[in-house]
Amino acid sequence: MSLSVVILAAGQGTRMKSATPKVLHEISGKPMLFHVLDAAEKISDDITVVLHHQFDRVREAVASAYKRVHFHRQDAEHYPGTGGALRGIDFRHDRVLILNGDMPLVTTASLLRLSDARADLAMSVIDLEDPSGYGRVLIEDGKVQEIVEEKDCTPEQRRIHSVNAGVYCVRRQLLERYIPALSNDNAQGEYYLTDIVKMAVDDGKKVVPVFVEEAEFKGVNSRIDLAHAEELMQRRIRRAWMAEGVTMHLPETIYIDCRAEFLGECEIESGVQIHGPCRIENAHIKAHSVIEAAVIRDGSVGPMARIRPGSNLSHSHIGNFVEVKKSMLKGVKAGHLSYLGDAEIGEGTNIGAGTITCNYDGKAKYKTLIGRNVFVGSDTQLIAPVTIEDETIIAAGSTVTRDVPSGVLAISRAPLKIVEGFYRKFFNKGRA
Ligand code: UD1
Ligand code: MG
Repeated sequence: MSLSVVILAAGQGTRMKSATPKVLHEISGKPMLFHVLDAAEKISDDITVVLHHQFDRVREAVASAYKRVHFHRQDAEHYPGTGGALRGIDFRHDRVLILNGDMPLVTTASLLRLSDARADLAMSVIDLEDPSGYGRVLIEDGKVQEIVEEKDCTPEQRRIHSVNAGVYCVRRQLLERYIPALSNDNAQGEYYLTDIVKMAVDDGKKVVPVFVEEAEFKGVNSRIDLAHAEELMQRRIRRAWMAEGVTMHLPETIYIDCRAEFLGECEIESGVQIHGPCRIENAHIKAHSVIEAAVIRDGSVGPMARIRPGSNLSHSHIGNFVEVKKSMLKGVKAGHLSYLGDAEIGEGTNIGAGTITCNYDGKAKYKTLIGRNVFVGSDTQLIAPVTIEDETIIAAGSTVTRDVPSGVLAISRAPLKIVEGFYRKFFNKGRA
């Protein structure tokens, strides 16, 4: 781990047109910057994040999830630009890997290719059909000469397709020498980090281009880039889980949060969305269901069901249009059209269509406890807090307003009234 990492994340990200700092925009359930930090943490014990725009907000978000990261506040008023971002940072190790906070697709493996390049300065280069927006890399006889930012390019240089992906691995000594010597004599009046490449070349240092894939080094600057990066990340997440034995029907229609986890053999049908840190084991999630931060083990859900945060389902079958929130279900069948919130339901219990746990009185939430082998008839309302003990029957259409002891039938129904001849009288038609 003899490598320091610095992640540049001070920019405002104007092109996002957002009150949220660019690097906190999420890809597959996690801020972009966190994806970069995850890749960095695997290869370094000395990570510095450079911040300026909304310093406190970004620092708090990062510090809550990453305990050992250092923060550096860029003096962006006096030293704007990616070169300015590196002023005054102390690095622990002899080599420094420089990353951008807006590169959520970067992987540890590709970063290692840069740090393994055995150069004074290794830099990432992508060959792009459309190079617009990027700095162009001038290469002669396989040797990097310099990087020219698009705004400073001659028309001829603009046609170059080799671009700077923005990741570098540099000897610390070179940074200590070159960063204070940067000038801002360019089209944007900024201190360009990219100028250190020419400085190193002029000094006869070994500068090595490392060709990388856009799919990993894509920088996110706009919401269009964000959506594209999300697609690439989703493809990666789905492929990884399919390789682990998860069956997916029409995978391109499935969304899986990067924190979700699958165990055993799972089957995911088309249009399913899995948000947050879900744990899904030996389960079949049917078409168009939405699962949010829930645990599902040995059972099936859907089609078109919604399992919300804090739910834990095992050996259960949840059917269409059933919503479950913060509930523990073990060996339960709830086939159709129900809301089960803040409930605990035991083995062998059947929840009839249209059952509602009335868990909220407008002020607070209350629990519904249902025991084993209970038969809850259709269209039952359970007014929480309420307990239904083992082996009871709740008749269809009941409103359960108090606890039900074991072994009984609970029934609450308005008596049915029959009014003779009403149809004909009302519509003035039909049999006499
Ligand atoms: C930069 C490179 C360009 C490269 C591109 C790759 C420079 C001068 N140009 O351009 O050659 O092709 O990345 O994506 O480096 N940042 C700071 N402080 C600042 C300015 C930026 O920390 O004062 C951070 C940003 O938050 C961002 C990263 O540096 O994470 C890159 O900044 P950005 O403005 O996106 O640079 P580009 O114009 O894309
Ligand atoms: Mg950028």
